[in-house]
Amino acid sequence: MVFLGLDLGTSGLRALLLSADGELIASAEQHYDVSTPQPGWSEQDPALWLQALDAVMAELRRDCPAFSELRGIAVAGHMHGATLLDKDGAVLRPCILWNDTRSEQEAAELDAMPGVRECAGNIVFPGFTAPKLAWLRRHEAAVYGQVARVLLPAAYLNYHLTGDYVADMSDSAGTAWLDVGRRRWSQTLLKAGQMREEQMPRLVEGSQAAGLLRAELARRWGLKHEVVVAGGAGDNAAAACGIGALNEGSGFVSLGTSGVVLAARDGYYPCPETALHTFCHALPARWYQMGVMLSATNSLNWLAGITGQSPAQLTAALGDTLQGPGPVQFLPYLSGERTPHNDARVRGSLTGLATASGPAELTRAVLEGVSFGLRDSLEALRASGTRPDSLWAIGGGSASSYWLSLLATVFGIPLLRPQQGEFGAALGAARLAQVAATGAEPTAIMTPPAIAEVIEPQPQWQGEFDAAYEKFRSAYKVLKQLS
Ligand code: XUL
Repeated sequence: MVFLGLDLGTSGLRALLLSADGELIASAEQHYDVSTPQPGWSEQDPALWLQALDAVMAELRRDCPAFSELRGIAVAGHMHGATLLDKDGAVLRPCILWNDTRSEQEAAELDAMPGVRECAGNIVFPGFTAPKLAWLRRHEAAVYGQVARVLLPAAYLNYHLTGDYVADMSDSAGTAWLDVGRRRWSQTLLKAGQMREEQMPRLVEGSQAAGLLRAELARRWGLKHEVVVAGGAGDNAAAACGIGALNEGSGFVSLGTSGVVLAARDGYYPCPETALHTFCHALPARWYQMGVMLSATNSLNWLAGITGQSPAQLTAALGDTLQGPGPVQFLPYLSGERTPHNDARVRGSLTGLATASGPAELTRAVLEGVSFGLRDSLEALRASGTRPDSLWAIGGGSASSYWLSLLATVFGIPLLRPQQGEFGAALGAARLAQVAATGAEPTAIMTPPAIAEVIEPQPQWQGEFDAAYEKFRSAYKVLKQLS
């Protein structure tokens, strides 16, 4: 028996095959692009996801004999995206993604409506799904009129895999249509957004069976048995399942396209005024909270693009030994910010430049600016009553030892690098697939991984980084005055 986790990410699809005893058997990955038709917009054609899926499945089938023994699949997806389908299930327009900020005005309008924050448990951020549909109503009325179903990216893959419109709670929590405390579609929120429940998918828990793999796909991929498709999860809830963050206070910092500081909670404790997100976990009767920054490794990718060096080359040039705060300061608001500012319009800045400032100084500035932005999220979590004494470090950026040493020092707590940390969300999805297909006890499957390395804060730099963080916080106010 083997289980497949699919991580439908912003920059690519990653597939991970897991054995029944939790061993990683094989993985495959395909990349695709985001399109930016206008500044602040971010879209993706769902056809790219299906092409990537076929390619990773073909690769696993070719290279891994155990693949034909597949019994369960789950999808973890980048959250909040609006995939719009007509009455025949055809895609109406490119999916509007989580980091698209065009619906700033509609988000503010929804957020101000009575009862909305109370039901959603969150600020209605421009990245969430409901304001995207309100934008569509205003600006693409003909498309809006044909919308028979709105699916999140992971739910769109569920639809492709099972033929059924079905989504999990953790991902649906990011729509601003779900009553996050009661785990059901909210009539109050649907009415506020002028949507109908029949446009929503059926809801299941992430670890519950959503349906069976369509026979046509099972044949195409050479699978021998009936395959259960689990509800799946939003990528952050899935990553939490991958590192065993199920109980109060355990969590991670993720250095992906977006930056996330997440902690599992033992109940539902919404706290919208901090710009923290409070969402359903992928397991029943569990919730988590997180702060989200919009441009984490994306900031480094931006620098890589303009310097002509890869992100890995840029970070490698710093070596592994942490230096104190650098001379250049970077504010990482390349596409606006969620936690703590909820500000779609703010943009980044570089200050302190000198003729001697080269790629190394700029790289230090970017890593520091992103780390300070993540500390904002950690402080929001602390203010809501979660005080993690360590965090797992996952995501592509966690490959840089310099960055992790810096982040541990800026956070003032140790970071744990897990073995195979780059597979966070895909691993969590594979575990959800296993639970859905076998009925296994989730807590027995979703255990913490082996620790590859503990990265301790560097006490000699902590005071200086604390002072630099205070400067970073004031710089946002200055930036607002200038803009
Ligand atoms: C979470 C969020 C991002 C995306 C992309 O609210 O918008 O983390 O899920 O990974």
